[in-house]
Amino acid sequence: MFEIVSKEMLSPAICRMKIHAPRLASSAQPGQFLIVIPEDHGERIPLTISDYDREEGTVTIVTQRIGVSTGEICSLNEGDSFSDVAGPLGQPSEFVDMDRKELAEARYIFIGGGVGTAPVYPQVKYLHSLGVPVDVIIGAKTSELIIYREQMKAVCDNLYICTDDGSEGFHGMVTGLLEKLVIEDGKKYTQAVAIGPMIMMKFASLTAKKLGLPIIVSLNTLMVDGTGMCGACRVTVGGKTRFACVEGPEFDGYEVDFDEAMRRQGMYRTQEHEAEVEYEHECRLGKTVINGRTE
Ligand code: NAD
Ligand code: FES
Repeated sequence: MFEIVSKEMLSPAICRMKIHAPRLASSAQPGQFLIVIPEDHGERIPLTISDYDREEGTVTIVTQRIGVSTGEICSLNEGDSFSDVAGPLGQPSEFVDMDRKELAEARYIFIGGGVGTAPVYPQVKYLHSLGVPVDVIIGAKTSELIIYREQMKAVCDNLYICTDDGSEGFHGMVTGLLEKLVIEDGKKYTQAVAIGPMIMMKFASLTAKKLGLPIIVSLNTLMVDGTGMCGACRVTVGGKTRFACVEGPEFDGYEVDFDEAMRRQGMYRTQEHEAEVEYEHECRLGKTVINGRTE
């Protein structure tokens, strides 16, 4: 069992949990993900690692309640345990294998969209610890939904916030802010990394291409079982079929077929909606629903 050593709500629907998992923490790298199984024989839920502490032996996950499975995770509390937490899985971010000479010439801009801001954090922290200049854009619908504001400030050179409604920072989307930084403010970057909704990563990639800026995106949200077996995370990258959970989750944003990826994301929408309706119905009746089973 894997104990939840702390839990906090970052917004009404987003929770952050620190989990005691020493072996996982000892080998986790930025960019990798893990699989959470809340209950024995339960569903496997892939989540990008949002931090790790080798000394404490903990890993951090950030979950947004968007369906039944993520609802089950968010309903657990400090002192509760997950049946299993497996990982680290997937390939680390490419800068983990870059030598110091290459990194000395790099200047990164990270773009975190909504809850996708959380997995940006370990990458920024890693590069900052090596002295690599890193700027960060965090975008959200409104000021209350901005997460990781203070943590990110502590590990980056410049933090830029944007909100769709203009309640904080730049009024507009991450793509508008990226263009402003590069074109109007004359900021120079060698590499962008974007993590967030698929539609954001699509348009961030188009904007980066227009600016001549290489961009990496994370396709974690396509995954279902996270083992290379179910095929749900198949995606065309540079004309070739790739599996996000085994060969990714990070890929070159110029090369990803985002429209196909978004169609694939929509494949389970009906089943997800049905499960959600059943879950809410059972909750209203005062029953506990665990991994689709009513108890
Ligand atoms: P959101 O819909 O509030 O979008 C966040 C920001 O993305 C917006 O504020 C905007 O700046 C930008 N954006 C959205 N649509 C855009 C467009 N068409 N063009 C340019 N920019 C656009 O985000 P949310 O509701 O918090 O959802 C977060 C998403 O991140 C979820 O879909 C989740 O699955 C995904 N996610 C991905 C990972 C990963 O590792 N890839 C990890 C966690 C979450
Ligand atoms: Fe099932 Fe990758 S998530 S094959």
